[in-house]
Amino acid sequence: MATALDPNARERVASLFEPLVTPARTAFHTSEVIELVTSPDCDPVLLDRYLIEYCARGVRMTEPVEGWIRRAGERTEAMGLTELGQALQRHAVQESDHHLLMIDDTRRLVELWNSLGRVPLNADTLLASPASPGCVAYVELHERIIDGETPYAQIGIEYEIEMLSVTAGVKLLANVAQVCGDDRVEELSFLNDHVELDVGHTEFNRRQLEAILADHPEFARVIGEAGTAALHAYRQFMTDCLEAVR
Ligand SMILES: [Fe+2]
Ligand SMILES: [Fe+2]
Repeated sequence: MATALDPNARERVASLFEPLVTPARTAFHTSEVIELVTSPDCDPVLLDRYLIEYCARGVRMTEPVEGWIRRAGERTEAMGLTELGQALQRHAVQESDHHLLMIDDTRRLVELWNSLGRVPLNADTLLASPASPGCVAYVELHERIIDGETPYAQIGIEYEIEMLSVTAGVKLLANVAQVCGDDRVEELSFLNDHVELDVGHTEFNRRQLEAILADHPEFARVIGEAGTAALHAYRQFMTDCLEAVR
């Protein structure tokens, strides 16, 4: 069994995996929605409204995460990939109840929005919004991977999506501080927690990816495809949130 201490491990991820996901990463970070919400020229009221939509609709993307990672881990372990399977199951616990942060944030942001004399919003109505196309694609991707023949490809989804917190998430929060003010940033508990927590989670995911590709370099393709599909679905979700508010 190769270990994550293998000096070639990082290079293996860089050469086997990164090229597969680079186009989807670029598409995400250069998308209209990401460029808008990370731009200092973004209209503050639109950004405020976008954050409410992101938190409300994000609940459906976040509530199943613990179960998804646990199930993927169990199936990965059952097929004999013990190290990665157990790592996924350990990680699953760390994602417990994160959707509750998004529910709290939605309620506080709506309260603040309504206190500013804008056209009133109802948090319960927003939280009950039907799943958008990006959300549907994201859920279907997980179910297909977890129930399919390559449940270990979940690591590709985790690596790419949690990395977004430390790339786009950091830029978004900095822009919210600049455009809407520091007090708005304080209301965003989900984003604040994730820009910190997902530094460690991304490092953890990268070590798992290094280890599995050391043993099975041939897995790079399906793991990269899962990461790519996750990035496309999440980009669609971010776009859906923008389309809902303008
Ligand atoms: Fe999380
Ligand atoms: Fe995380």
